[in-house]
Amino acid sequence: MSIKKKIQNIFDHEVSEQFRINIPIEQTEYLIGGELHQWQGDMQNVLSPICETKNSSTERITIGSYPLLSEREAMQALEAAAMAFDHGRGKWPTLKVEERIKHIENFAFGMKEKREEIVNLLMWEIGKSLKDSRKEFDRTVEYIMDTIDALKELDRNSSRFEIRENIIGQIRRSPLGVVLCMGPFNYPLNETFTTLIPALIMGNTVIFKPPKHGVLLHRPLLDVFREAFPPGVVNTVYGDGKVVIGPLMESGRLDVLAFIGSSRVADILKKQHPLPHRMRSVLGLEAKNPAIILEDADLDLTVEEAVTGALSYNGQRCTALKIFFVHENIREEFLKRFTKKIEALNIGMPWEEGVHITPLPEDNKTTYMREYIEDAEKHGAGVMNESGGLSQGSIMFPAVLYPVNEKMRIYHEEQFGPVIPVLSFKDIEEPLKYIVQSKYGQQVSIFGRQTGEIAHLIDPLVNQVCRVNINSQCQRGPDNFPFTGRKDSAEGTLSVSDALRVFSIRSLVAAKGSELNKEIITEILKENKSNFLSTDFIF
Ligand code: G3H
Repeated sequence: MSIKKKIQNIFDHEVSEQFRINIPIEQTEYLIGGELHQWQGDMQNVLSPICETKNSSTERITIGSYPLLSEREAMQALEAAAMAFDHGRGKWPTLKVEERIKHIENFAFGMKEKREEIVNLLMWEIGKSLKDSRKEFDRTVEYIMDTIDALKELDRNSSRFEIRENIIGQIRRSPLGVVLCMGPFNYPLNETFTTLIPALIMGNTVIFKPPKHGVLLHRPLLDVFREAFPPGVVNTVYGDGKVVIGPLMESGRLDVLAFIGSSRVADILKKQHPLPHRMRSVLGLEAKNPAIILEDADLDLTVEEAVTGALSYNGQRCTALKIFFVHENIREEFLKRFTKKIEALNIGMPWEEGVHITPLPEDNKTTYMREYIEDAEKHGAGVMNESGGLSQGSIMFPAVLYPVNEKMRIYHEEQFGPVIPVLSFKDIEEPLKYIVQSKYGQQVSIFGRQTGEIAHLIDPLVNQVCRVNINSQCQRGPDNFPFTGRKDSAEGTLSVSDALRVFSIRSLVAAKGSELNKEIITEILKENKSNFLSTDFIF
């Protein structure tokens, strides 16, 4: 069947029993202070990216709704989190590290039992393919286990004293206070948890707001959170950011903002805090990662990486390759092979075997993508692949645009979707200049073979972006590697071990080495009187 024909009838689909969800899912619960409260106010309808055809028009299926909480509930969540932290005197921040680890392990255990339910909701709520939804879930559980191991390691290194200039000291990391965690719709589970879990395990208390697309998939975890943590340690808020997040920021009582989303929103939030220097920010923002394809690049490998780099989850990844600079001498061959491979991609519903291109969750996203194409066409580019830009409702076949230039919006803006701009270059200074002038500075991919040329690019590029990938697409993982960016792309560094540092601060207990002090310290240790001042070794 031609792609055109397939797209025309794309939403006439049968869903097998295994992937069905019971709709509507009316979520009325929200978790504050260890209790699941029932909301009776306004609700937000949840529209799936999956559509149905009704009276010859294509409409998104309503799969449920969630609470549109008010400022009152947001402030209750803040009170609960602040009370659980209690200026560092609460049960959670003063708990032994080993005990906190047990709570997190219990949570991970409970979470694993919800795998199937959450994977199905990921497909229905954000249109992620079955394979990638499973990957997101499993990667998140793995991240939790790796975080536990990293904390054990960190704790082992701190379970000793240092003596300098006759001063005895024990240095550990302590929590910062109340953390607000907000993840993005493209990794609603994984990226929320890459801040939530390290924040919790370090002894902070948390308010978390799931992304607009990706609320219902957290519902199965509400009970697991409630059972695994003491009251007030994890609290949830839902609703309009202006209503529920604005007052939290303006209260000045948040100690950390962990936000993954756009720099525009991050700037608004930071400005709302009356004491910005008191709030630490951990931000993962936009990017416009370029691929530089050199004259001698292995084109089979390059095309393989270019397709997954640009189009995994329809290009909706901050790390996606979002602009391609191809050496003029191989431009024709690259475009031929690249568009051929793209035309062979499967488009369909998330649960279909081998599917690559799936419906997009954001409202009017296909219109927005089409505007990029029209703007590029107006300034001299064309769509290089036969099916590029074909769309129906929320789904769109990827479009390769060539030749792209600086007059086009897609040259500058992060498209976050299935439109791929390509330029050719003669002089390597052209892509280098683009990177220097870009607002973003996350990663770059270089494709080529000549070691001299590659090395010559690595040295300046590591000072422009934070990861240079060789013959490989850009990506966040492995999660033990640092993930960050320069300019408008990030603030702070995340990785399994970096995140533990980001959500904590070094604190120490110090004493002049007098006999009295030595006796006091020895007795505290011997009788296990303190959870901080301790040489206990976690195995
Ligand atoms: O959207 C940004 C994600 O952190 C990208 O992660 O490279 O593993 O897909 P990924």
